[in-house]
This record gives sequence, structure tokens and C-alpha cells, in this order.
Amino acid sequence: MWGGRFASGPSALMEEINASIDIDRRLADEDIRGSKAHAEMLVATGILSAEDGAAIAQGLDRVAAEIAEGSFPFSRALEDIHMNIEARLSELIGPAAGRLHTARSRNDQVATDFRLWTRAAVARLDGQVRDLQGALIDQAERHAATILPGFTHLQAAQPVTFGHHLLAYVEMLGRDRGRLADAGRRLNECPLGAGALAGTTWPIDRHMTAAALGFDRPCANSLDAVSSRDFVLEVLAAGTILALTLSRLAEEIVLWVSAQFRFVDLPHDLTTGSSMMPQKRNPDAAELVRAKVGRVLGALTTLATVMKGLPLAYSKDMQEDKEPLFGAVDTLDLCLTAMTGMIAGMTVNETACRAAAGIGHTTATDLADHCARVLGMPFRQAHEVAGKLVARAEGLGVDVSQLALDDLKAVAPDLDESALAVLDVTHAVEARTSFGGTAPANVAAQVAEARARFLG
Ligand code: ARG
Repeated sequence: MWGGRFASGPSALMEEINASIDIDRRLADEDIRGSKAHAEMLVATGILSAEDGAAIAQGLDRVAAEIAEGSFPFSRALEDIHMNIEARLSELIGPAAGRLHTARSRNDQVATDFRLWTRAAVARLDGQVRDLQGALIDQAERHAATILPGFTHLQAAQPVTFGHHLLAYVEMLGRDRGRLADAGRRLNECPLGAGALAGTTWPIDRHMTAAALGFDRPCANSLDAVSSRDFVLEVLAAGTILALTLSRLAEEIVLWVSAQFRFVDLPHDLTTGSSMMPQKRNPDAAELVRAKVGRVLGALTTLATVMKGLPLAYSKDMQEDKEPLFGAVDTLDLCLTAMTGMIAGMTVNETACRAAAGIGHTTATDLADHCARVLGMPFRQAHEVAGKLVARAEGLGVDVSQLALDDLKAVAPDLDESALAVLDVTHAVEARTSFGGTAPANVAAQVAEARARFLG
């Protein structure tokens, strides 16, 4: 394709380091779509005859069919997907194939293909995150009033509802979707027609190809069009944050299914056994979701390092952009599918959750609030009183909620029966009706609101 000024072909070593076909063959559909749009534009602008345009379109359809049925002769000697397809087109339709590359370079071609691929990947990921939100919202609805301990520092803090806890992830995932959507919007400009770097002397219509390929507009600057991969970095950054969200939920699942928590049970088909310990049922899928964030962050680090300090315009370094994104998207795809399966299939052990919520003096804040509200104490003093009651309970080897009225009066003589009621975990969650709070009534309303906002 470029042999004119060469005395010899590339060495085996050159081919080894240069060929990208094993990776970029995943761009075949996008490459064919881009070429068809380019050829149509060349015909519309009078650069290519209608006959040649029709032959190219038919030939490209044939190539697409060969790729789909697995008979396409991929060749490493032909470097990349662009040259593989053009070479096959030339075998199929003859010299007209050689006119397709008029007013085009592989630099604008690959940038266009990759934006098309990334745009579709972002849309697919969005749908998968949406499915996970749907599974979380369904479980949140089921468990709007299920009580479990909320933690800070992984120490029992205050009782919360399971639904509320799951809806926290729905919010996080909503922002993850927002970041992906932002990246998707910004990347939707078309590099095609930028040529190698400077534009072209041919009277092309870049607006036509941009519209045909579903882009909002052509990239405004030909140098930028072929040199920029920040659109990939953005998706990898958003993907890394998404993977981090998943890893936190995965970690909670790992804790929840342990014998010490028993808050949740996973379906048997999403767990594995031990070759030695007959009792084991391990949450490997959750552990792997927790771990795989490393791959996505690794991809971001890889491409950021590739791009650092690259002068304008195209450098071959940029061929290293695809493997990280393909790998990261595959990883996110798998993690999202596994996580949705785990969330949809998990059963919540309401008895164990509720019992755990009553361990660790989790209603001590309610007692302090009660002293402040009913006895008119400044909150700092009420905190001191409740702290003393916790110490008293510890001394007696009971939870603060198990103290008798006499114990309460020993520290705060003005307290009466009404103080005992606030020590109950059900009271504690039902009373937290502040906006965004954990009360079952709030969760029920938030479930409906989240459905409309994220799934509607
Ligand atoms: N395979 C190349 C890539 O992915 C296509 C662009 C090659 N351009 C060039 N001038 N060698 O970056």
C-alpha cells in the first residue's frame, strides 16, 4: 500500500512490532461503515464516479459478509484492519478499490473508526449500568424496611435500612453513567477528512460524512482530529471510577456473605467451593469484581503514558490506544454482568441483619438526641450523658438498648419511659425521615423516584 519509495519490504521484526491486526480487527465493522460513508461522499462531491462508488460499496458489503462468516483472510503482513480490508476489496473489485483512499489517510480513518467503536461501547456500558441500577432498585423496594447496621470505620454506627444502603449505589452508578454520557457527547465529532494531518486539496464534504456516521459535527481542526485520544482517556477515567464503584459493592458482598455477618446469601451458581474444606462456598465472583478494577486503571495508566509528551500530529505510539480500551470495556462488561447477577439473585437474611443492627450500641445517638430534645440539654451535654450510659451498659455486659429505666435515671434522673422507646432499632430508622435519610417511608419514595430518574 505504500511500497513506492521502498527498496525492500519490512523485515520480520518490523512486521512483528508493527502489526496491529490481531487487536484492531475488532474495528472491522466501523472501518467498513467509515469507508462506505467516505465513498458516498466522494461520489456526491464528484471526486469518484458513481460506478466506482457502487463497486466499492458492494465490495465492502462482501468484505463485511466474509468477516461475519469467518472466511476473511486476515493477514499480519498487511499490518492493520484498514489495509487488510482495502487489500481484500482490491482483490474483489480490482483497481476501483484504489480510489477509495482518495482524500483520506489511515490517520483520520483510524481516529474515525475508534470514535465509532468507543461511542457504541459507551452506549452498551450505559445499558449495563442501567440494568444493575434496576436490580438494585428492585432489591431496595423489597427491603425498604429491612434493618441492618450502618457502619463508619467498619464499626457499628447507626441502624439503616437495606433499601437505603442499596440506593446509595444507585446514586453512585447514576454519576458513573453521567460521566460516561459526558465522554460520549464530547467524543461525538468526526475526524474523517482531516487527512494525514493538514486536510486535503480535494473538494470533500466533511459535514456529509460526519452526518452519515451519526456524529454531531466534523472535528474543527485537522491536526487535533488525528492527534487526540483524550476521548479514550475520558472513557477509561469514567470506566475506572465505575470499576471502583463496583469494587466497593463487591467488597460489601464479600463481607455480607461471611459466616460472621450472614446478611446475604448468593445463588449457588455464582459461588464456588473449596477442594479441601467441604463447608466452603466462596464469593469468587465478588472478589474478582473487586480485583478487576486494577485492569481498568491499568488501561488508563497505559494510555496516559502513551500520550504523554507526544508532539502533534499522529505518531505510531497512538496505535497502542486500542488494546487498553478493548480490554477495559471487556472487563467492565464482565464485571457489570456478574454484579447484576449477584444483586438480582441475592437473598437478604432479614433476621441476621436486624440482630446485628442491635449490637454495638447503635441507638446511642438516638438517646443523645432524646436528651437534647426532651430535656432541653445542649447536644454536647446530651452526648456526654449518652456516652456515660454506653459505658454503664458496657460495664453490665449489655447493649445500651437493654438498659432499664433505673440505669438511665442513675445517670440522667429526669429521663422517663419515653427514653426506652428511642433505643429500639426500628424506632431509630423510622424516625430518620430527613431528606435523603434512611426511614422506610423515605426509601419507598426514593425507589419510585430513582425508577423515574434512572430507568424511565
Ligand atoms: N494501525 C494504525 C493505528 O492504529 C493506523 C494508522 C496508521 N497510520 C500511519 N501513518 N502509519 O494507529
